[in-house]
Amino acid sequence: MRLDVVSIFPEYLSPLRLSLIGRAVEKGIIDLGVHDLRDWTHDRHRTVDDTPYGGGAGMVMKPEPWAEALTAILGVGSEVPDGPEGSPTAAPASAESGPVGPEPAAPAGRQDRPAGDRPLLIVPSPAGTPFTQAHAAELAGREHLVFACGRYEGIDQRVVEWARDHAEVRLHSIGDYVLNGGEVAALVMTEAIARLVPGIIGNPESLTEESLEDGLLEYPVYTKPAAWRGRAVPDILLSGNHAAIARWRRDERLRRTAEVRPDLIAALDPAALDRRDRAVLDEIANADPSGLAWGDRPD
Ligand code: ADE
Repeated sequence: MRLDVVSIFPEYLSPLRLSLIGRAVEKGIIDLGVHDLRDWTHDRHRTVDDTPYGGGAGMVMKPEPWAEALTAILGVGSEVPDGPEGSPTAAPASAESGPVGPEPAAPAGRQDRPAGDRPLLIVPSPAGTPFTQAHAAELAGREHLVFACGRYEGIDQRVVEWARDHAEVRLHSIGDYVLNGGEVAALVMTEAIARLVPGIIGNPESLTEESLEDGLLEYPVYTKPAAWRGRAVPDILLSGNHAAIARWRRDERLRRTAEVRPDLIAALDPAALDRRDRAVLDEIANADPSGLAWGDRPD
């Protein structure tokens, strides 16, 4: 997988060189490029922002550096230049990205590829579609992901419109809160995606058993010692009865999910629930002061 991230704070993306993803980059499973947007500016101050048309607080990211950066990184063919400030070209040879280092742009000509193989441009934004585990799983199969990390009040809207002519473009939010920029959101999404890329996690079985893979949260886990500070590990986990342990774990997942994420329970496919699942959910519903059994609840 090729992964490019564009930011005015490339150092913010340094964690991509650590841990599992860092090792995947070293092994060549992920081909990572972290780029400084200011390398595509042409004025003395390396300006990337300007005042908003229509007034209002804050600054807006100018379209020209973004179009030049994305032209190089998405491998878009030559275009009409933006004017005296500069024409769309490949990444400047002098590109320096702090500790993350200068990175080569992806090869040109990707716009002719079939839809699934086209680069996907992800713009982290609180106004985007909520990013989920299902998105992460889908994007782990993509060949080329590009994250455009905005700052200030955001990127000039025309950049997204222009980019749609050259790549699939998605706005994704990582939650209903506002961050100072897209970098942390890009880190969150890249971690969720990259760990699902084959070859990155040592034991792929752990991926099928974790929270949200099938719409439920994870069961509680324990390790040695069996008794600690007066608290014992549940007996069933020491029983060696694998079928009973699997059932207990599923019950715990259902209970936990019903307690903290009733929205996930409401979204479950009833056909995916067995009789025991329904009994566990009904037991929880009966203990609930609202008194509504599972299946009788409003969405
Ligand atoms: N940029 C600022 N806030 C964000 C959020 N919640 N999700 C994604 N990108 C953001």
